[in-house]
Amino acid sequence: MKVLILEDAAAAAGRVAEIVAARLEARQGVVLGLATGETMRPVYARLVALHREGRADFAGAATFNLDEYVGVGPGHPASFAAFMRETLFDHVNLDPARCRLPRGDAPDPEAEARAYEAAISAAGGIDLQVLGIGRNGHLAFNEPTSSLASRTRIKTLTEATRRANAPAFAPDPVPRHAITMGIATILEARACVLLATGAAKAEAVARMVEGPLGADCPATALQMHPAATVVLDAAAAGRLALREYYETVHPGGAEAVLG
Ligand code: GLP
Repeated sequence: MKVLILEDAAAAAGRVAEIVAARLEARQGVVLGLATGETMRPVYARLVALHREGRADFAGAATFNLDEYVGVGPGHPASFAAFMRETLFDHVNLDPARCRLPRGDAPDPEAEARAYEAAISAAGGIDLQVLGIGRNGHLAFNEPTSSLASRTRIKTLTEATRRANAPAFAPDPVPRHAITMGIATILEARACVLLATGAAKAEAVARMVEGPLGADCPATALQMHPAATVVLDAAAAGRLALREYYETVHPGGAEAVLG
């Protein structure tokens, strides 16, 4: 796992946007896995800015989002589909037909989950998966005790996650279930980049990077991925026991130089 520690949240988000932009440049028809959450807003804002500067061309790219709330259609203002339109899709040259999220309002959510897995495979798999992390160590909506071999399916949300996501739905309650890519689905992406910022994520980050592998912190599964990059600001890196080592290997979040 590559751990890059940047000075602040803006720099960390900018770094993730640059990693995505580099993938767009490297491969026409790239398949991106995308995440929602407050942490991602500055990443997408930076990508939109790069696009306007002519440095992020999404022509031919396809995207698959990690998750969506069950019972919530793409027209619902608190849907992840709406979040993606507002923050990214409406501002760059992505073909809407190639921007997929699970349909939260599908009449048969289990069948939708299976179809979503099949669509990812049919697209040739995900080249780069962008991830955030929940305060309880969840990835996408894979809550603690999710199987590390899980595929796209329905998960029941914890009360802590529902509280964290309450502002988007207020005054209505947050749905109890979500359709989410599984941990094994995420691990199949050819590369993963996870962004965490702020002190509230420091504990989860320390467990993910240095803790024992286990379903009580689903994000630890990234330890098994051969090409996972974790991008942090100083606050989110605050509880890492080996922080000095990561900063020696990647000073200021730079790539490692051999010799
Ligand atoms: C949600 C999403 C996750 C995201 C997490 C953290 O639960 N399903 O993909 O990583 O929230 O969100 P935030 O960035 O708002 O802290």
